[in-house]
Amino acid sequence: MPAAVCQGRHTHGRVPHVPTLLIVHHTPSPHCQALFEAVVSGATTPEIEGVRVVRRAALSATASDVLEADGYLLGTPANLGYMSGALKHFFDQIYYPCLDETRGRPFSYYVHGGNDVTGAVRAVGTVTTGLGWRLAADPVTVTGEPGKADLQACWELGATTAAGLMPGA
Ligand SMILES: Cc1cc2nc3c(=O)[nH]c(=O)nc-3n(C[C@H](O)[C@H](O)[C@H](O)COP(=O)(O)O)c2cc1C
Repeated sequence: MPAAVCQGRHTHGRVPHVPTLLIVHHTPSPHCQALFEAVVSGATTPEIEGVRVVRRAALSATASDVLEADGYLLGTPANLGYMSGALKHFFDQIYYPCLDETRGRPFSYYVHGGNDVTGAVRAVGTVTTGLGWRLAADPVTVTGEPGKADLQACWELGATTAAGLMPGA
């Protein structure tokens, strides 16, 4: 087969595929921003080599973003006993276009809430089970003002999920 012919997700001609972690987040407040920044910091820590980290706001992420990535981190506030409408919109858009090709890919998530994130956690679990994604790190849930331990847990969430995508991991 000629080298210029695309052979799928892992090689495009002679250019090697760079494993990609896609972070899809809805970040409407400073507390959510703090968790998001900690996750990004962990995912992009210099010890993790050879992994590209792409961030997308949930309202702008596309099915192409999902298909091109190898693993996923999702971040959302709990709203009205469910995930945010923004993350739900993301799933509504990508579900069927990605159902076949992304089955088995690793993911995890973080949820921020005021006092009860149960419904949001259940909702993310239901959709990702439908997609067949594989939980690759313990999810992080935080209520109220994030403390040092919460931010550390988010850092580790980012680092663990990204490290799992390192070549040879
Ligand atoms: C309309 C609305 C519904 C919400 N519903 C929930 C909820 O069901 N459970 C919860 O723990 N927090 C709920 N919250 C709180 C948000 O999760 C919280 O505002 C968000 O995580 C941002 O956190 P912060 O306001 O402390 O910065 C709700 C907030 C709004 C505005």
